[in-house]
Amino acid sequence: MSSKQNTVLVTGANGYLASWIVKKLLIEGHTVHATVRDIHNKEKINHLLEYEKKYKGNIKFFSSDLLEKNSFDEAMRNCSIIFHTASPFRLEIKNPIKELINPALEGTKNVFRSADKIDAVKKIVLTSSVAAMYTDASECKNLINNEITELIWNKTASINYQPYSYSKTLAEKEAWNLYKKQSKWELVVINPSLVLGPFPNATQTTSESINLLKQIGDGTFKIGVPKMPIGVVDVRDVADAHYEAAFNKNASGRYITSAYNTSFLEISKLLYSEFGDSFPIPKRPLPKWLVFLIGPLLNKALTRKYISNNFNQDFKANNNKIQKELGINFRPFKQTLVESFQSLIDQKII
Ligand SMILES: NC(=O)c1ccc[n+]([C@@H]2O[C@H](COP(=O)([O-])OP(=O)(O)OC[C@H]3O[C@@H](n4cnc5c(N)ncnc54)[C@H](OP(=O)(O)O)[C@@H]3O)[C@@H](O)[C@H]2O)c1
Repeated sequence: MSSKQNTVLVTGANGYLASWIVKKLLIEGHTVHATVRDIHNKEKINHLLEYEKKYKGNIKFFSSDLLEKNSFDEAMRNCSIIFHTASPFRLEIKNPIKELINPALEGTKNVFRSADKIDAVKKIVLTSSVAAMYTDASECKNLINNEITELIWNKTASINYQPYSYSKTLAEKEAWNLYKKQSKWELVVINPSLVLGPFPNATQTTSESINLLKQIGDGTFKIGVPKMPIGVVDVRDVADAHYEAAFNKNASGRYITSAYNTSFLEISKLLYSEFGDSFPIPKRPLPKWLVFLIGPLLNKALTRKYISNNFNQDFKANNNKIQKELGINFRPFKQTLVESFQSLIDQKII
């Protein structure tokens, strides 16, 4: 598919990651049909309107809700490529079915059913997650080379245990299922790890990426941070990955989009070295017994089971495929962290 001047759809266009995808598309001169829940909420979309003023492409907004049938039909008209990013990324929730699973799964069904109906649609790029591949770092021990690859599927998350991971697994499985039932559009899936990097509109998003970084900077973990492993990737690299997934003719299947196998302790130490004089950033590891004791109080997703399966474990995600096939070169870890944190300071979040 030619990368020149297509009309494309981005779902949840105001979101943290989607905003960077929209920016990239406008820079390259595409026409973006942007779905948001409420087109009248200017605070959520002003930054996208600013991009439109600055760059070559055009943007048109549509109100669409993941939970409403046919909600994406109008926005999808004339679109050759669909970037389906909308899905809640929250770890502290009360009702997993209502808050995570329904929007992820029913949203995927609604968007993909619209794609079946609209002739113009040739490709869907779905934002999944490495959470659709694993729940706990301890699972790496049982994998070939102790690493997750695109062949791995999450078999351990459930409604009651890490429901966000479960929501992403159900949604991606359904996407592949719907793909197999038709021959009109292609499907490429991007599976990012924890996305960090500058937040274009930090006060208006509920992405857990902000909360995790904010908790490191606002003193929540000032006595120490658990050595919990995590993959990290820059939001701008994830946006590029979506762009390549759409326009690079080599793109096919799933792509682990994770630059660094690291830990919250390493993230915290690096931020301490840059910002520790002005912010209560922890630099010491919390011992396991203390993580057991206070973890669940600090973040409800830090359950005892999660701590047992992740504390001090090694996590490894293999990112060869995206580098080789889509030519993604990941930004330096330090740049990602420093620019993320600085953007939260600039927007008075910390
Ligand atoms: N951030 C990460 O570390 C990370 C890692 C891997 C994968 N991902 C995936 O990346 C995607 C974007 O996440 P993000 O971090 O950018 O989070 P975000 O800023 O919270 O974006 C989520 C988007 O989904 C929209 N949305 C939620 N429920 C909706 C509904 N019922 N109907 C319509 N739209 C709805 C939100 O709209 P409102 O603003 O109106 O709520 C928002 O635009 C998600 O699919 C997430 O699972 C994120």
